[in-house]
Amino acid sequence: MNYTIKSFEEYQQVYQESVQNPEAFWANIAEQFVWKKKWDKVLDWNFEEPNVKWFVNGKLNITENCLDRHLQSRGNKLALIWEPNDPKERFIRYTYRELHEKVCQMANVLKNNGIKKGDRVCIYLPMIPELMISVLACARIGAIHSVIFAGFSANAIADRVQDAQASVIITSDGLNRGTKQIPVKRVIDEALEGNTSVQRVIVAERLGWAVNMEDGRDVWLHEELKKVDKDCPAEEMDAEDMLFVLYTSGSTGKPKGVVHTCGGYMVWSDYTFRNVFQYQESDIYWCTADVGWITGHSYLVYGPLLSGATTVMFEGIPTYPDAGRFWQIVDKFGVNIFYTAPTAIRSLMAAGLDHVLSYSLDSLKVLGSVGEPINEEAWHWYNIHVGKERCPVVDTWWQTETGGIMLSALAGISPLKPSHAGHPLPGVQPILIDQNGQEIKENEVEGYLCMKFPWPGIIRTTYGDHERCHQSYFANYPGLYFTGDGAKRDKNGMYRIIGRVDDVINVSGHRFGTAEIENAINQHKKVVESAVVGFPHDIKGQGIYAYVICDELPQNPDHMRAEIIESIVEHIGKIAKPDKIQFVSGLPKTRSGKIMRRILRKVAEGETTSLGDTSTLLDPNIVDEIIEGAL
Ligand code: WT7
Repeated sequence: MNYTIKSFEEYQQVYQESVQNPEAFWANIAEQFVWKKKWDKVLDWNFEEPNVKWFVNGKLNITENCLDRHLQSRGNKLALIWEPNDPKERFIRYTYRELHEKVCQMANVLKNNGIKKGDRVCIYLPMIPELMISVLACARIGAIHSVIFAGFSANAIADRVQDAQASVIITSDGLNRGTKQIPVKRVIDEALEGNTSVQRVIVAERLGWAVNMEDGRDVWLHEELKKVDKDCPAEEMDAEDMLFVLYTSGSTGKPKGVVHTCGGYMVWSDYTFRNVFQYQESDIYWCTADVGWITGHSYLVYGPLLSGATTVMFEGIPTYPDAGRFWQIVDKFGVNIFYTAPTAIRSLMAAGLDHVLSYSLDSLKVLGSVGEPINEEAWHWYNIHVGKERCPVVDTWWQTETGGIMLSALAGISPLKPSHAGHPLPGVQPILIDQNGQEIKENEVEGYLCMKFPWPGIIRTTYGDHERCHQSYFANYPGLYFTGDGAKRDKNGMYRIIGRVDDVINVSGHRFGTAEIENAINQHKKVVESAVVGFPHDIKGQGIYAYVICDELPQNPDHMRAEIIESIVEHIGKIAKPDKIQFVSGLPKTRSGKIMRRILRKVAEGETTSLGDTSTLLDPNIVDEIIEGAL
C-alpha cells in the first residue's frame, strides 16, 4: 500500500491535495482495496438533509478486504492474539487463514439460523475471540451488526434491540472481569422479556456454566458450529449498504443508533490506522478498548485487519491481578503499538511506579491515547514511564460518529504537544465557530468544533430516524457537521479539545447524556426531579454529580442514595453510577422553567464564588441551599 505518509512535509502536501481535490485523493486510496465492482462516482453529498454517499454504486465486501485478500501473502501471519483475563489461562492465536475459516463457519451458523443480508444482529459478548468473529461473520453475509457493550443492563439492551429491530442476539453464558464472573445470559433473558423481534439467541460458552436455554429460541454456538462447513462466499454489498449500527448517547434521554456503511468506513478505518500509528508489516498492535465501543470497532477489528496487522485482544482489566497487567502483556507479546485511554493511564499512574518499572517495555514504538482529553500529567507519565521518552504519544480525537481518527499527530512525523490532538488528518476540514455561528478564521482562538466537508467515515444516519441525525449534527450550523465539542486552535494550527459543549458527559471515556441518567434516577418512585452534571474527576476525567429532589427529604440519605444507584444500574449499567448524589429541595430554574446547569456545574466543581448572574432565577435562594449542602 502506498498511502502511508512518511514525513511532515509530505503530510502537508497530501493534506493540501485532499482538500483541493478530495475525489481524486480518495479514489486513489480506494483503488487499493478489493472491489467487486468499481464505483461510478466518488462522492455525492449535502449537509442539509444530510445525504453523504461515498464510492457511489461501488460493490464490495469488507471481510474480503480484512481476510481473503491477505491469505496469499499473509495466510500464516497472526491476525489475532487473544489474552484471557486470568494470566494463568492459555492465550489463543489465530493466523489470517484460521481467522478466515472461523469467520466463514460463524457466518454459516448465522445463515443456518435464518439470518439474511440486511437483518440486524445484536452482539452482547465479552472480549473473547467470538466477539471479533461474530462481527466479521455478520459483515460477511451482509447482516448489520450492533454490538452492545457487555456492561450495559437488561433495560439498556432492551431499548437497543427494540430500536434496531434485531432478529438475533449473540451472547455468552458469562464473562470474566478481574476476580468477578458475571452471568451474561441471564441479563439477555431479562432484556428479552416482552420482546417480539428476536427469533434466536446464540450462546457462546465461556465459563461453562449451566444457563437457562429457552426452547425454540436459544442455541449453543458450539453445537451450531458442528453443523457447518468452512466455506462461505462473501455477500456483495453496495458501498452505501449499512455495515453496522452502534448506539451512543446524545443530549436527549434516548441513545442513538449511529450508522456506518461498508465502503467509506473501510477506506477510512484503514487509512487512519496506517497513518496515525505508522503501522509497519511486522508490528504487533494492541488496542485496549472493548469492541463494544467505536474504538474497538475501528482500531481493534477493522483498521488492523484491513491493514493485515496482528491485533491483540485482551479479555481482562488493567488492574487484575495487579496494576502491572498491561505492561506484562506488552512484554509477553512484544507489543510495538499500544493504544489506550487516559482514564486507564491515570488509574495505573495512581497505582504507583513499581508496577511499570518491573517490565522492560522495550518493544514499544508508538503510544496512543483516545476517548477524552489527556491531561499533561498523564501525558508525561505515559511518555516517560511507558514510552521511555522514545515513543511518540499520539492523542487521537474522534467520535463514534466520525468512524475513525480525525485530529491527531502521525506518530513520529508530526510535532507533538501534550494535551493537544494536533493537526487534522488528510480529508478532514475542521473549522471553529463563534457564539454567533460565524467561522473564526484566525489562529490562537477558541470555538465550537465543526467540519465543513465530508470524510469517508462520516455518520450516514441515525438508525430508523434520519431527522434525528439532521437535528443532532447538522441543524445547529447549517451546512456544517457539528461535533458537540469546544476546541482551541494554536498559532501552528494544532487543535486542543476542551470538551463537550452539549449535555453530554464523558466518564472514563464513555459518553452519557445527562438526560439519560436523569431518566434513570427519575424512575425511582420517591424522586420528583433530578439534574445531572459532570465535574472534574482525577481518574475518570469527569465524574457524575446528581442533584435530586425527593417527595420528602430522605430520613436516611445513604439508603436513598443506594436505591438511586440501584435504579441507574438497572436502567443503564454500573458504568453510569454517580459519584455524588445531593438531595435538594429545589433546582435553580429560570422563570421559563429551564434548569441553569451552569450553576450546578460550578457548585459540583466546588467553585461557588463566581456563580455569575442569578437574578433571572425563579427562586435565587435555592442556590444558597445547594451551596451549603454541596458534597
Ligand atoms: C467524544 C466522543 C473516539 C472514540 C472514543 C470515544 C471525546 C474523544 C478525545 C481526545 C479529547 C476526546 C470528545 C468526543 N474525545 N477523543 N483525544 N481528546 N476529547 O468516542 O464515545 O463517541 O465520544 O469523546 O468529547 O466528542 P465517543
